[in-house]
Amino acid sequence: MTAASTEPVAGEPVAGEPMTGESLLGEAVNGLPADFVWGAATSAYQIEGAAAEDGRAPSVWDTFSHTPGAVAGGDHGDVACDHYHRMPEDVGLLAGLGLDAYRFSVSWPRVQPGGKGPVNARGLAFYDRLVDELLDKGITPWATLYHWDLPQELEDAGGWPVRDTAYRFAEYAGIVADALGDRVTDWITLNEPYCSAMLGYYQGVHAPGRTSFPDFTKAAHHLLLGHGLAARQVRERAARPPRVGITFNPVVAQPASDAPEDVEAARRADAVGTRIYLDPVVHGRYPEDLLADLAPYDALPPVEDGDLETIAQPLDFLGVNYYFRNVVKPSDEPHGYRSVQQTDRPSTAMPWEIYPEGMTSLLTRLTREYGDLPLYITENGAAFDDTASPVDASGRIQDADRIAFLADHLAAVGRARAAGADVRGYFCWSLLDNFEWAYGYAKRFGLVHVDYATQRRTPKASALWLRDAARACRAGDGGAPVPVE
Ligand code: FCB
Repeated sequence: MTAASTEPVAGEPVAGEPMTGESLLGEAVNGLPADFVWGAATSAYQIEGAAAEDGRAPSVWDTFSHTPGAVAGGDHGDVACDHYHRMPEDVGLLAGLGLDAYRFSVSWPRVQPGGKGPVNARGLAFYDRLVDELLDKGITPWATLYHWDLPQELEDAGGWPVRDTAYRFAEYAGIVADALGDRVTDWITLNEPYCSAMLGYYQGVHAPGRTSFPDFTKAAHHLLLGHGLAARQVRERAARPPRVGITFNPVVAQPASDAPEDVEAARRADAVGTRIYLDPVVHGRYPEDLLADLAPYDALPPVEDGDLETIAQPLDFLGVNYYFRNVVKPSDEPHGYRSVQQTDRPSTAMPWEIYPEGMTSLLTRLTREYGDLPLYITENGAAFDDTASPVDASGRIQDADRIAFLADHLAAVGRARAAGADVRGYFCWSLLDNFEWAYGYAKRFGLVHVDYATQRRTPKASALWLRDAARACRAGDGGAPVPVE
């Protein structure tokens, strides 16, 4: 596809074309400051493809997605959005949308195929080109070091439940900091360790598909240790003074009723889904109630001397991914809760309940309990069945439902700021429709539609809406946050 086919994004809407969601713009950006960072996010395995090219070795997600029955439709990331070959075009899309920043992830098995040992220069060169291309277009690169694609060789040696994986991760982080740290200043060590540990090692619905509760807590601890060690490496080795953060998807747990057992289930969900990560990283300790919950399952985190100091590295910001809340009841499983689908409220295609209020309460809670760290929404967005949306004369999907979702969640961010949360930016998930993990290609989160047969990219109406929201925001100023009581 040529650059010409992306042109409508850079230009104004076609004359006479109604600007879907225009009325939502004011409300969405009211409360956001003029210097708010507007971005889009992706991750390596979900978009790159080129799975066996230029020396890349398999990750746990290659193995998992090629395991029969693991991923819907038998889908895998072998080709995905073919971003590896179409990177300049995709950066052109970002530029056309006038976004300030792009959050991407670096593929560990592309850079260091075995997870240890020699660097694969051809793989590393891809990120070198990507960063240059972004900077050339005036877009700030935000690099995530780990978005779930553990080199398969390390999984074969035990994976995240094994302590050595944390040391290997730190070594890899140093390699990337050496290569990109002269141009990248915004670094995220891990994306959502909850998913790597809970979904990957206990629930078995994500790679590597293991189902041991003690392995979950071992994995969680070693991921956090890896975060601390990697943060140190980036700070020591990046040529430009870096800003280092970590991205969590805290579980926003609410009891299904006031019944004590439901309230207790919500406490357990919060302990094992949220505080198990945030407390060690920010406060340097595991919560007492969590340790009491874990002890009967022989699942205490394998803490060694000095680990908690390493884990609690100073942070420059906290990355927050928010999609939905969890309304919970007790369960007999070791993690102690199960989520109850809310049928009386609208949901996305996942189907995840649409609950923007949770964005506000999460951000204000983080500020209250974890201090005045700058916060960035590093992911928020929605999958909808775009085939049900009207398509206009230019072929653009009029995804009014996605626009409403984004507007409502941005307004919720504004409300959190008004209540004192220091939220400084918003990265929409995702730039492109892409490989949605266990759901395969069936769920589309993109601002830009991808026709997987032709790899043609077509920005949806939501892409133009986000561009206009960013513009409107820059033109106004929602003011400074006030302190949380
Ligand atoms: C998050 C992941 C991201 C994407 C969205 C929908 O949990 O970080 O890769 O799959 O969900």
